This record gives sequence, C-alpha cells and structure tokens, in this order.
Amino acid sequence: MAFRSIRDLALEGRRVFVRVDFNVPLDGGRITDDTRIRAALPTITYALQHGATVILASHLGRPKGKPKPEFSLKPIAEHLATLLGRPVAFAPDCIGPEAEATVAANPGGVILLENLRFHPEEEANDPAFAQALASLADVYVNDAFGSAHRAHASTEGIVHHVKESAAGFLMAAEVEYLGKALHDPDRPFVAILGGAKVSDKLEVIENLLDKVDALIIGGAMAYTFFKAQGQPVGRSLVEDDLVDKARELQERAKARGITFELPVDHVVAPKLDPKAPTETLDVGDARIGDRMGLDIGPKTVARDADIIGRAKTVVWNGPMGVFEMDAFAKGTMGIARAVANVHGTTIIGGGDSVAAVTKAGVAEEMTHISTGGGASLEFLGGRTLPGVAALDK
Ligand code: 3PG
Repeated sequence: MAFRSIRDLALEGRRVFVRVDFNVPLDGGRITDDTRIRAALPTITYALQHGATVILASHLGRPKGKPKPEFSLKPIAEHLATLLGRPVAFAPDCIGPEAEATVAANPGGVILLENLRFHPEEEANDPAFAQALASLADVYVNDAFGSAHRAHASTEGIVHHVKESAAGFLMAAEVEYLGKALHDPDRPFVAILGGAKVSDKLEVIENLLDKVDALIIGGAMAYTFFKAQGQPVGRSLVEDDLVDKARELQERAKARGITFELPVDHVVAPKLDPKAPTETLDVGDARIGDRMGLDIGPKTVARDADIIGRAKTVVWNGPMGVFEMDAFAKGTMGIARAVANVHGTTIIGGGDSVAAVTKAGVAEEMTHISTGGGASLEFLGGRTLPGVAALDK
C-alpha cells in the first residue's frame, strides 16, 4: 500500500478536511478515555504549523442517521481545545451553510464539525453528501484508522471529490506497524489472541496461521478448542457451532509446524462474580464440575512468558480472562508484563487489550497501541480496509 503523507501536501493557506476517529467512550458527556483524541494531535498540530485551516470531522456512536444530543461532538470540541491550548470552533452541522460559515469565520484555526452520522448519507456513502463534505475544503487527510474498515462518505466517498488526498500521521503509523507485522515481521513472530469468542477472531487466526511462528490462545475462546479436544469445560463459554472449526484450525497449525498453545491451567469459579470462590486447576481436570474458566493460570502464564520472551514481534489482541475483575485479572496482567519485556516490536490492538496494558501500567512500554478495534481486527484478518484503499496512489 503506497499512499501520500500529509507531509506531501502543500498546506499553507489551504483548508484541510481531516477525518479523525473521535468515537470515544462518554459517560453522560464526560470523556472517559481520550486516547483517540490525543492520537490525532500530531496531524492537527502539523497542519496548523504549516498554515492550514483544519476542519475536523468524525462520527460518535451510532445515532442512526438522526441528530441526537447524546451523540453530539460538542464536548469533544471543548476537550480538544484544552489539549491544543487554543480555541476550537464548533460547527452545529457537518455540511451546509452553518458548516461553511464556521469554516469561513476561522481561517488558520481549528473547526470541529458536528457528528457525521447525524446524516444517514454518511453511512450510505452517498456521493452528493461526500461532495458536500469535500466542498468545505481544498485537500483531504484521513487520520481515522479506527474507521478505515467502513466505506462511508467521509472515509471513502470523499476521496473521489477532492483533488488531493493523503494519510495523516496516525493512519500512516497504524498501517506501517500492522502491515510490517503481517508482511515482513522480525522473527520469531508471536501472536496472542484472547477474548470471549472464537467467532470474533476466526479470520485473524486463519490469516495469522500462515505468518506466525507461535500462536498463543487464551480467554474464553480457548474453551471451544478444549471442547474440540474432548476436555471437560464445565459451564465455560463455548461456541458449539465452531467446535469443528477449532479442531481444523489446530490441525492446520500442527501441519504447518507452528507453535500453537492453549492454556494448561485455569482459574475456575461457580459464576462470574468478583466475590465467587475460585480454584486453580489444570486443564483437563474433571473437578471443574459445572464451574467456568475465567482466567488462565500461573503455569500457563509462565509457559507463555517464555515463548513471548523470545519473540522479536508480538501482536496481542484480546484479554486472557475477565481482567476487569481482580479475581480473574492475574493471567492478563502477567501476559501484559511479558509483552512489555520483549526486546522487539510489540503491537496491541483492540479496546480490551489496550485497557489491559493500561491497567497493568505497561502501556508506555509498547511499541504501538492501535486505536482501531474492528479496523485492526479486519486488517490482521487480511482484509483490505476501504478507507486505506481509497488513499492508494
Ligand atoms: C470503532 O470504534 O471501532 C470505530 O469508531 C468504528 O465505529 P463503528 O463500529 O460504529 O463503525
């Protein structure tokens, strides 16, 4: 994938439409995690320093094509102004006279447009809507990696209505790190996949089986593999319709000669409750009874840490257990520390794994933390992301 960088654009005195992903978690108007906003700051600052008028556009949540106050980007404009240390003009609509007037009144400044998804034409990738967005600016920059798996008007359609388009710094970094891991990793290349469901990670596992030296599986999705092996799983989460698929994946890994590791011990409890009594058992121990597995155990952490410690590239997506509850967090925290100790490239993708490395206090040790949840999974699954493809030279 070859695309232009914002560095390749003449910006002085021009209006730059920057698609960002400010789809951040909000709790009644309060931003609970501003990682995605901070991640866009280098592009915004660069454009301002090079004399551009910066027009920012994003979606927030899923308002389903109608203006809904709880999905307004206004609180984000205020927070961004604080982060930038300069005013951010807020346009109450993303197209039309109000948007045009706000842009015209703020040359050389920062404008944040209201939620793109207040118009159904955004998700429909409507050409007239894409044209209306494009008409606000002279050049287009996409820095919204988190939305690059969506072929929407602001991520794909708009490119056909502007003379020049380019990737922002965040978009370029995401594609570079994830792309290098997939296509030219320093080896050994170890992927760690966790989370609740095999179905969420199926494409990623299939794509990575051809590329990794070792695949470590944890989280509830391991139980579908255990069931395929005929191990006792109690009431652990199993996707029955994927048991055969799990068996096939394990056989393929074996045929390819890669290391494919499932947990060897686990923390079990009668229910998902932070106060529930827990016990650590070896996998295969029938004493699990009708309890459920909610974290990997210490033997698994030690074995995985050994594999991870020898890696030169690590990609991690999905926690090893229910780490939000301290009783079931040790496995995920142990893996986070092992990844932090790697002498090589470490890439964290997906909201839960990002929260896990943050909880473990090792976020700063990682080479790259992806801002894309669905986008990074689709990328690692080998799919072409429409928002990235549209930027292709
Ligand atoms: C995300 O949070 O993954 C992106 O912002 C995309 O949001 P969406 O799943 O609502 O399209």
